[in-house]
Amino acid sequence: MGQFLSRFNIHLHTRMHQYENNLIPIHYKCRNCGMPCDKSKSETTCVNAKYTRTGTKEQPLVNRTVVPDNKVRWSTSYDYHPVEFTSEKVKNSTKEYVDRDPRFDLSVTIPWNQDDRLCDRRSYHGIYKIVGRVPQNPCGRTGITGRGHLGHFGPNHAADPIVTRWKRDANNEIVIHPTTRKPVLQFVCILRKDTREYAIPGGMVEKKEKVTDTLQREFHEETLNFPDMNERDKQKLLATIKDVFENGGIRIYCGYVDDPRNTDNSWMETTAYNFHDGSNEHLALINVHGGSDALSAFWHDLGSETPLYASHAEFLKNVADIHLAHW
Ligand code: BGC
Repeated sequence: MGQFLSRFNIHLHTRMHQYENNLIPIHYKCRNCGMPCDKSKSETTCVNAKYTRTGTKEQPLVNRTVVPDNKVRWSTSYDYHPVEFTSEKVKNSTKEYVDRDPRFDLSVTIPWNQDDRLCDRRSYHGIYKIVGRVPQNPCGRTGITGRGHLGHFGPNHAADPIVTRWKRDANNEIVIHPTTRKPVLQFVCILRKDTREYAIPGGMVEKKEKVTDTLQREFHEETLNFPDMNERDKQKLLATIKDVFENGGIRIYCGYVDDPRNTDNSWMETTAYNFHDGSNEHLALINVHGGSDALSAFWHDLGSETPLYASHAEFLKNVADIHLAHW
C-alpha cells in the first residue's frame, strides 16, 4: 500500500475533486501481483491471488488473473484475460438495492455517475468510464470482471467511524511511547468475522442512508451490545454518542479503498471520520463489546505494528498525525 492515501488525506469538510486516473496510487489487496509478495505468508504466490471468501464449502475457489505492478493502469497495454466472477448470492439476489447485470440483460439501464436517491453511484474520484455497459475501476486492473461479492457495479460506499481516546496509566496520566516519545492513542477496534483481521468498525452505506447515519449505525451494531447495562444508562449513553457523532467529527479520508473484494467493475469507496474524546468525558468511557459482523470489539493502541483490514492502517496513520500521537 505504501503511500496509498497520504496524498488524499485531510480534505476536511470538502468533497474530493476529480483526480487524473493515473494519480490514484495502485492497489495491492485486490490484485494478484504474480510474485511471492509476502514471504512470511506464501513462499510461492501472491497472498492476494485468491479472491476473498472463496475456496469454501459454499463457494468454489476463484483465483485472480495475474496483473503485475507495471500493468495495473488501463493505459498500459497488456494481453489481459481476467476471470469473471459474481457470487451466486449477488447474482440471485432479488433485492431492489442489488444491481441487475446490464451486460447480460440489455433492458437494464443504470444511472451511472449519479445519485439516483436509492443509491449514490458517484465516485469521490470524479467521473468513471463505462466500458462494455459497466463501469471501469478507476484504479486499474484487478484480474476479475463482474462484481465478486459486491452488490453494485461502480462504487460501493462505506463509512468508517474512528473513535479514539488517549491511553492512560493507573494515575490517569497519558502514556508516552518509549521510542517515539509521543503520546499513545487508542481506537475502538474490531475483529472482523469474514477475514479475521483487525479493523475499524465500519460498514456499507445502506439504501437511501446518509453517511452520518451509517457511521452511527455501524458503531452501534458492531461495538455496542450492552450485555449488562440497564435501560436508563443505555439510553443516556446512546444520546451522548448521537450528540458526539453529529457534532464532533473530523473527516479523515474519502475515496477509493484497496479492498480485497474489488473487481474491474465494482469497487469500495469510504468516508472515514475521527471522533476523539481527549479528556475522558464521553466516548472514552464506553466499554465496547463485539456484535453483528464483529467477533469482538476492544480499545486497541494505535501504532504501525498492527496489521489491519483494507486501507485502515492508512486512515489511522492520518489520525495519529492530526493528534501528534505515536504511530
Ligand atoms: C467495511 C469498512 C471498509 C470498507 C472498505 C466495508 O465493508 O465495513 O470498514 O472501510 O468496506 O474496505
